[in-house]
Amino acid sequence: MPISRRDFLRTGTSAIAAYPAMMALGMLRTAPAHAFDLEGSGAGKHVLILGAGLAGMAAAYELGKLGYRCTILEARTRAGGRVFSVRKGSTNRETGAAAQTAAFDDGQYFNAGPSRIPHHHELTLHYCKELGIPLQVYNNINEATYYFSEGKGPLSNKKVRVREIHNDVRGYTAELLAKAIDQGKVDAELTKEDTQKIIEFLRAEGGLDIDKLYKASDRRGFIEHPGAGNKSGSIANPHKLADIISSGLMDPDFYNVAEYAYELQMTMFQAVGGMDTIAKAFEKKVGKDVRFGCEVKSIQNQAEGVSVTYKDKTGEKQITADLCICTIPLTVLSNIEHNFSPDVSRAIDFVPYMQTGKIGLQFKRRFWEEDEQIYGGITHTNNELAQLFYPSYDYLGKKGILIGYYNFNERAKKMGDLDFAQRQQLALEKGSLIHPQYKQEFETGFSVCWQKTEYSLGGWALYTAAARKASYTALQQPDKQVYFAGEHMTYLNAWMAGAFESARKTVADIHARVTAQRVAYPATSSIV
Ligand code: ALA
Repeated sequence: MPISRRDFLRTGTSAIAAYPAMMALGMLRTAPAHAFDLEGSGAGKHVLILGAGLAGMAAAYELGKLGYRCTILEARTRAGGRVFSVRKGSTNRETGAAAQTAAFDDGQYFNAGPSRIPHHHELTLHYCKELGIPLQVYNNINEATYYFSEGKGPLSNKKVRVREIHNDVRGYTAELLAKAIDQGKVDAELTKEDTQKIIEFLRAEGGLDIDKLYKASDRRGFIEHPGAGNKSGSIANPHKLADIISSGLMDPDFYNVAEYAYELQMTMFQAVGGMDTIAKAFEKKVGKDVRFGCEVKSIQNQAEGVSVTYKDKTGEKQITADLCICTIPLTVLSNIEHNFSPDVSRAIDFVPYMQTGKIGLQFKRRFWEEDEQIYGGITHTNNELAQLFYPSYDYLGKKGILIGYYNFNERAKKMGDLDFAQRQQLALEKGSLIHPQYKQEFETGFSVCWQKTEYSLGGWALYTAAARKASYTALQQPDKQVYFAGEHMTYLNAWMAGAFESARKTVADIHARVTAQRVAYPATSSIV
């Protein structure tokens, strides 16, 4: 006998037995993300995909399930595009420089491109599950890391633990607000009870004493840790608020808004053994359709179908197909001949891309763990390095690779304009101000400047409001037989999730056209 939602809620069924019933009643989502089960067949249609990055390979994978024949042209000799884990023997080519080859030890790697997966990027996690890719937690947030401010203040030019600044700033601001409320200087209509509640909250949040004054506590760490016998532990005085301010530690480089951002909140994940494991898993599925070392020279819509000219090591070739999915980054596509409409052509030329780069530095010893108890997380600086990442794998191992800088915009431009040796020298020089151990322990490094990296020419699409309105909209529709896909075709720029979401949307659009049916992607979700 069917039971109603109301009846169901009244019965005291055990949670496990209740699960399918709750699903049947629409009270739970069926799964966080679903296998893509479109109906109808694409048999007999040939789709040419430009780029064997995640968008191109995921599109081929899904089209393959529907019976389409796919060919993927890839300029590089590897799959994955910007999903690039640098390990022993990895190579990268930048404009105006000879290719560099990584000399890291076996088993050591760093992710020069994507390195972290937010827990709410359901489609990324779904594909990891569908393709059997093991994940591990990526530690994005760590109070044991440092702030390092170059400047003139008393706390400048030395490393200060993040937990000291976080707790001091939280304490002082709570104290200031509590005082203002006490003195009736806060312009808000609050009842006496509400005021009392807020004061209680501020006292707990800021760690204020009975007089609502901020005093140091063990939240900001110990100078001597507690232990056995008479070792009760000791804590330092807080830093002075004026010193924190004059040392630049309340400047934007040290706001922790980045960590508050939805996309960077824990839990975050990474693929075990390197993010390129994800690319390799897709390559295993669609690799037979990929032609490597094929640089696209021209894309021409025909009256029917599409014709693409490309160059491989034996010369120029041509290939035709019914439809085409172009996942080439717009910065690269902009230099390729085509016969797209003026609007599409303008859009391709107009969207700016992020300048960004990283360096991986291999050290003989994991001094950040052994000497400083730092296990994953990020140190922030206001100098060229911007951020220094500690590895979230091989904890307590012997050697390790730090990401010696991960910067954006002007800092990334400045760093990227240097040659490989100069970048490494600067990363070591600035990094050793924070970790003097660099001098004894450094072994080898490898840097990637994305705006100079061949076949990428940028980190990710960086839409201004104007570009989102004009260019983005123009690229959403196919130009005759050519569809545009990739992170740049989403609101998930700079994330693997963008590549996957875009691949699915494009497959849905193509399948709707070929089978003359309505296919909506993204489908409306049914979150409880
Ligand atoms: N998704 C990029 C990152 O994780 C921006 O840094």
